[in-house]
Amino acid sequence: MTSIELRAIQKFFGAVQVIKDLNLKIEDNEFIVLLGQSGCGKTTTLRAVAGLETIDEGDILIDGQPVQHLKCSDRDIAMVFQSFSLYPHMTVYENIAFPLRATRMSKGEVDKAVREIAGVLRIGNLLNRKPSALSGGDMQRVAIGRALVRRPKAMLMDEPIGALDAKLREEMRAEIKRLHLKQGSTTIYVTHDQIEAMSLADRIVIMHEGVLQQVGSPEEVYARPANMFVAQFVGSPVMNLAKATVSRNGDDANVAVEGSAEGFGFPGSLLGMLDAARSAKSDLALGIRPEGVLVAREAQDGYLPVEAHIIEPLGSYDIVDLKVGSQMLRARTRSGFVPRAGERVWAKIDPAQAHFFDTASGNSLGVRL
Ligand SMILES: Nc1ncnc2c1ncn2[C@@H]1O[C@H](COP(=O)(O)OP(=O)(O)OP(=O)(O)O)[C@@H](O)[C@H]1O
Ligand SMILES: [Mg+2]
Repeated sequence: MTSIELRAIQKFFGAVQVIKDLNLKIEDNEFIVLLGQSGCGKTTTLRAVAGLETIDEGDILIDGQPVQHLKCSDRDIAMVFQSFSLYPHMTVYENIAFPLRATRMSKGEVDKAVREIAGVLRIGNLLNRKPSALSGGDMQRVAIGRALVRRPKAMLMDEPIGALDAKLREEMRAEIKRLHLKQGSTTIYVTHDQIEAMSLADRIVIMHEGVLQQVGSPEEVYARPANMFVAQFVGSPVMNLAKATVSRNGDDANVAVEGSAEGFGFPGSLLGMLDAARSAKSDLALGIRPEGVLVAREAQDGYLPVEAHIIEPLGSYDIVDLKVGSQMLRARTRSGFVPRAGERVWAKIDPAQAHFFDTASGNSLGVRL
């Protein structure tokens, strides 16, 4: 049973604050992914939990106990980094067994532990090899095995598969997930790859410039992004964001993106929801994922005429850039649905998939139709 809690963490490097009031509670057995752009403070956060970095303010608690005064080696936490740091002169077996040497385990117990973890990681056949005779994926499996063999309280992984090629990354992603389901240990995993985050995490923690933006399940951060940063950081291709004005049109609402004379039809209930969510009449941005932009080949009720610009064929579907007023909206269509760039097509926004943000604060207004 291991829970980890970060309370009001502040961290400076010189005059630069790299972690700003970070609060996070990680439950026993939870797989948490810290997701954010380069330099947002992911590694620093991880190193602080491990005890490799001090913090300037706040508390780090493991199982409810403050640990700032404990050395790294006394926190019983294992770390795996992007660069595989295996001992080149030792075999795979010796590399995995290494952390157990300092313990009082008998040779038989060490042997049992090494073979067990090697079995779980499917590297039992590689135990006599030296690291130089391993593939990148195998090396990283060994590094993970070495971290897990002593059954640490928690596992911290910093971009552990970032250096592998795309196919191997996919394979290792599945492997890490399987391993977590089997072994179960409280895990903090750092990545800037949102697909990795979505596929592995129980909860994703999105950071930007040292500030936590949102914590939630992959479904939550995708479907209900808390602000414009999260909206555009999670999901590929990214969510369309366009300044928009909302007006009444009889019983309905009309949402026009900047630079467009005509607007998209929305249910009239949008007007009341926006009024309730907005304190001041600050500017609005409409957010819509490419799958929420519906495209028709012929004029249809509620659809606006638009021009297809670039078509990106992605195999199972296409991404089509549509010019709406002065804005470009990306739509996801069936492959080949829009035959050529330059074609006139018709588009509509699915109100159920629309998001509205306050452009001043960047925050979502929480309006869902
Ligand atoms: N030892 C240090 N001294 C001074 N500044 C540092 C130090 N370590 C990190 N920083 C700075 O702190 C900020 C956060 O760095 P950190 O390594 O935590 O980012 P990260 O999110 O892990 O980025 P990446 O995805 O590139 O690994 C960066 O601006 C970085 O330059
Ligand atoms: Mg880092």
